[in-house]
Amino acid sequence: NERTYIMVKPDGVQRGLVGNIIGRFEQRGFKLIALKLVHATPEHLEKHYADLKGKPFFPGLIQYMASGPVVAMVWQGLDAVKTGRSMLGATNPLASAPGTIRGDFALAVGRNICHGSDSVENAEKEIALWFPEGIVQYTHDQAKWIFE
Ligand code: GTP
Ligand code: MG
Repeated sequence: NERTYIMVKPDGVQRGLVGNIIGRFEQRGFKLIALKLVHATPEHLEKHYADLKGKPFFPGLIQYMASGPVVAMVWQGLDAVKTGRSMLGATNPLASAPGTIRGDFALAVGRNICHGSDSVENAEKEIALWFPEGIVQYTHDQAKWIFE
């Protein structure tokens, strides 16, 4: 069963969107397997966004992400990585469809509320980076109503 790393960014936390974002993943049928509020250090965030090092917006991105706590989560379910990305919407909220998280709540690419892993490989790396303590195991009783 596929897992993805989803994060509410500092602007999403400050704007009171944590419950709404968690609710969307719950309602869609995904299983919550990890969750915490963390104020990440710039060093930790530079590891998370290592692929973007060198981009002109990188320093601003790290400063934004370190400006307050984030909500770090792991969600599991069918095609979790791809479906998670489609629920977030396009990176630039001006291009995000209404009905997506960014399309409903954001306008600026540098304040786009949420993060979602872009591949299964990166999801596993991000889960290891944000949850080195490991992940709780439990049976999701709803699963029999969500899957054939
Ligand atoms: P994440 O889920 O946060 O990884 O976003 P993404 O995968 O949709 O986009 P990407 O990984 O390419 O960029 C990471 C983050 O950097 C974006 O979510 C934006 O917050 C920020 N970012 C990307 N491109 C730009 C840009 O052109 N300008 C600014 N200011 N920020 C950008
Ligand atoms: Mg990305």
